[in-house]
Amino acid sequence: MLVKRMAIVLAAGQGKRMKSKLYKVLHKVCGQPLIGHVADALSGVAERAVVIVGHGAEQVRSYVEQTFPGRFEFALQEQQLGTGHAVMQAESLLQGEQGITFVVCGDTPLVSAETLQEMTDLHLSSGAAATILTARLDEPTGYGRIVRDEAGHVLRIVEQKDASPYELAIDEINTGTYCFNHELLFAALKNISNQNAQNEYYLTDVIGILQSQGEKIAAYCAPDPSEAIGINDRLALVAAEQAMRARINVGHLLNGVTMIDPNSTYIEKYVQIGADTVIYPGTILKGQTVIGEDCVLGPNSEITDCQIADDVQIRQSVLTQSTVGSHTTIGPFAYLRPGTSLGEHVKIGDFVELKNATLDDHSKVSHLSYVGDARVGKNVNIGCGAITVNYDGYSKHLTEIDDDAFIGSNVNLIAPVKVGKGAYVVAGSTITHEVSENDLAIAREKQINKPGYAEKLRNRKKPN
Ligand code: UD1
Ligand code: CA
Repeated sequence: MLVKRMAIVLAAGQGKRMKSKLYKVLHKVCGQPLIGHVADALSGVAERAVVIVGHGAEQVRSYVEQTFPGRFEFALQEQQLGTGHAVMQAESLLQGEQGITFVVCGDTPLVSAETLQEMTDLHLSSGAAATILTARLDEPTGYGRIVRDEAGHVLRIVEQKDASPYELAIDEINTGTYCFNHELLFAALKNISNQNAQNEYYLTDVIGILQSQGEKIAAYCAPDPSEAIGINDRLALVAAEQAMRARINVGHLLNGVTMIDPNSTYIEKYVQIGADTVIYPGTILKGQTVIGEDCVLGPNSEITDCQIADDVQIRQSVLTQSTVGSHTTIGPFAYLRPGTSLGEHVKIGDFVELKNATLDDHSKVSHLSYVGDARVGKNVNIGCGAITVNYDGYSKHLTEIDDDAFIGSNVNLIAPVKVGKGAYVVAGSTITHEVSENDLAIAREKQINKPGYAEKLRNRKKPN
């Protein structure tokens, strides 16, 4: 029999302890908001999912809707009266449903899809009314504790602030992730009160209520305790960042990527990297970046939303929304801005900036150039200091350079302008008109030498 699975994500709290203008679940871990990580873990696990919003409802909702279109419904919790009260706000949306309902806190970004699946399996096989994701921590302070009887059965959850000294010594904590029988959850919520240290309606009280009704409570202890990390302050944010980074980096290492120092290598979740690529410290790979095999990246490079083919070298450079063909070398100190597309065996050297520019195979821009709004063919050489003058203060204009052309050093190409195939533009020229195929263009003042004038000049300037 197929069991319907629902999920409720709690995300209405402000996160006072973050001391931030930003709502808690929008703080980022490895480049993605906390609630984005939770939403990822839930996709594929639950058919319907409701996010409880309150503080920053509009911002949280618009982030979730834009990032996971059509995947989530929303319920508003106007006043934050506690986690139990938050869950109740989903009741009318999920009225009449049957099956199992996950409850996950929006501030526990490390909870994984695999763990949610393991929990579901245990929940269904044990016939429990509720299954709690727990963890054993060396430092359980701040979390709710799992109270068990002598036989090891779960009795209830006690919050840190309500716990006795004996209970505070328990090292098994509530991660805030649960799997419930849908109808039993909402029935039990009718019986919770706010008679506790925080005067809040605790979701955790549902466990004790179900247990006292004779229902079975299961607990799945997370094999990796970092899945428990709940973000309440910036210290926990650091812990989550480190744990997430380690999880991502271990995945790439096991896939055949070399990292000289994984602790200083920052890779966001959706980045893909081919085998035998070597990454040096200080490298940051972001967004939807895809890196091929046998590349050498870094040190100190930032690559965002780029497609990098095989055998590419990128040293000390910044690349955004760019495509790079195989065997191309970039840097040190190059800046590839959005819309850059490089062919194979291209060379981009130091202090070169490219924007909205296509360079075909075997072309070279070796030093100190700006190439913007340009289409450059194959085997073109752009000399040191040559630039495209693409902006007249009002609009941007295109520069086209055909195959095999040679652009000398310090050339200004005043766009819109075209340089034909095999043409040669001599150093120092300012080009305002089209240069045709195989022509040589020279656009600079003729040199005048005045014999002996240097000495005369010095004599004139010398103090008496
Ligand atoms: C909660 C659990 C605690 C557990 C811990 C795990 C309760 C009573 N306690 O404590 O046992 O160890 O999580 O991280 O559930 N929220 C709302 N509306 C509210 C209150 C909270 O949506 O009225 C949301 C928050 O935005 C947050 C989540 O629920 O994402 C958890 O709330 P928080 O106040 O952080 O609970 P903890 O004190 O961490
Ligand atoms: Ca929390």
